[in-house]
Amino acid sequence: MSEKTPITVARGDGIGPEIMDATLRILEAGGAQLEVEEIEIGEKVYQRGLQNGIEERSWESLRRTKVFLKAPIFTPMGKGFKSLNVTVRKTLGLYANLRPCVSYHPFINTEQKDMDVVIVRENEEDLYAGIEYRQTQTVCESIKLISRPGSEKIIRYAFEYAKAHGRKKVTCMIKDNIMKMSDGLFYQVFQEIGAEYPDIEQERYIIDIGTGRIAARPGDFDVIVTENLYGDILSDVAAEMTGSVGLGISANIGETCAMFEAMHGTAPDIAGKGIANPSGLLLGAIMMMVHIGQNDVAGRVHNAWLKTIEDGIHTGDIYREGASKKRVGTEEFSQAVIERMGQMPEILPVQDYGQGRAERFNLPPLKEVKLQKKELVGCDIFLDWTGDPDKLGETCSKIGTSRFHLKTISNRGMKVWPDGAKETFCSDQWRLRYMAKDKMLHAHILDLVDQFIAQDFDVIRIENLYQFDGENGFTQSQGE
Ligand code: NAI
Repeated sequence: MSEKTPITVARGDGIGPEIMDATLRILEAGGAQLEVEEIEIGEKVYQRGLQNGIEERSWESLRRTKVFLKAPIFTPMGKGFKSLNVTVRKTLGLYANLRPCVSYHPFINTEQKDMDVVIVRENEEDLYAGIEYRQTQTVCESIKLISRPGSEKIIRYAFEYAKAHGRKKVTCMIKDNIMKMSDGLFYQVFQEIGAEYPDIEQERYIIDIGTGRIAARPGDFDVIVTENLYGDILSDVAAEMTGSVGLGISANIGETCAMFEAMHGTAPDIAGKGIANPSGLLLGAIMMMVHIGQNDVAGRVHNAWLKTIEDGIHTGDIYREGASKKRVGTEEFSQAVIERMGQMPEILPVQDYGQGRAERFNLPPLKEVKLQKKELVGCDIFLDWTGDPDKLGETCSKIGTSRFHLKTISNRGMKVWPDGAKETFCSDQWRLRYMAKDKMLHAHILDLVDQFIAQDFDVIRIENLYQFDGENGFTQSQGE
């Protein structure tokens, strides 16, 4: 008997324990050699007052086994609680979130007959940094962070994945017509890295039409690489299109650790009823078996699962009169998979994982970035204020005049001074753009802020304006 691989397992909340039991039972029947270490995460831990939903000692297990099979967990809605999913992904550096979405037509009822898409979602940054502020009575802010190394890692991963799996095309989905700097950077890196993979077709979609297109013509897509939030939404759309979100897989891969889970949540509406579909978690666990090198087990279990699906033995979420033969609960479904261990699907493609289809690649070092000359050229002062933009412009154009000139005032990104449109709705958050008249220092910004405070203005935020090699590192206001 081969050596057992230690893995960390969390049964999670809601339907979590039910689908985890089913998954572990099926893996065992498939001959998996696992040494399971259980940790407790989620609701019970949150209730004990731990705002991250995980205990310190659980990290020790995760760092040692480096492989985490995780059932869905409940994230409390209240302020202060942090999403454990995001915490685990970021703490362990699980930068790549792999979400394959496959159609099992005609056995699982779906309009989409030819869907075999892999969504490679960035997993550590973007709006999921969770940096948020309430600045005024009526305005809250979330900061979207896109970094060059973060983008490079995920884009390189997507191309390496495509190469290793014989995939023909990588599509980049972004919204760089609006977010010219952050999404613009992501796309620029896509082009730079893409140039190293001339044999792989490359294309770009704006995320809104891209999502529409995947819903209408999923067969046009192969591997999709995208940012964190877009990938989250896109993959739920794609998973639902395959027949049920209960089929969706989410593999989170880092340089040293990896976490495998179902895409869906705790499904509180069906928890405890014994009817949940364990397939998402099981398919995630199959990816885990490949990850730890037990490829033969992965193939055996996957083929048994496909045969079960072909035989029309379906849980309620995928059961359709005509397409399905028997509606079963979680336990009966897993028993059906176990009984088919060793069998192959007859119509759906047989899965052969061979030896080398790992999901983790040794990426080359990050590209060297040529440092550019960074020069401070002004600052944006944000105010909590209520009133007429012309009045604000008149007052504030007299502030800081020895070193700065007030160029524009904008409200929610729209220029409202000078010459604003009177129809523009203004909130109580204002951005005043001061450009330096001459070479400037950080200390000059503090002087400027002092002058605002002296006039009883509520300065809620300051943003430095830089040029890089003479090019603006900031966008203009709409209408400027
Ligand atoms: P959900 O994915 O739990 O449920 C959405 C719908 O899909 C429900 O109708 C549910 O019954 C159904 N569904 C989900 N998985 C199913 C399965 N395996 N078999 C059959 N039907 C299934 O999404 P929801 O309701 O928005 O979230 C519930 C909780 O889950 C929240 O607390 C959320 O924070 C958490 N969540 C956790 C995730 C994780 O741990 N990775 C991911 C997404 C949500």
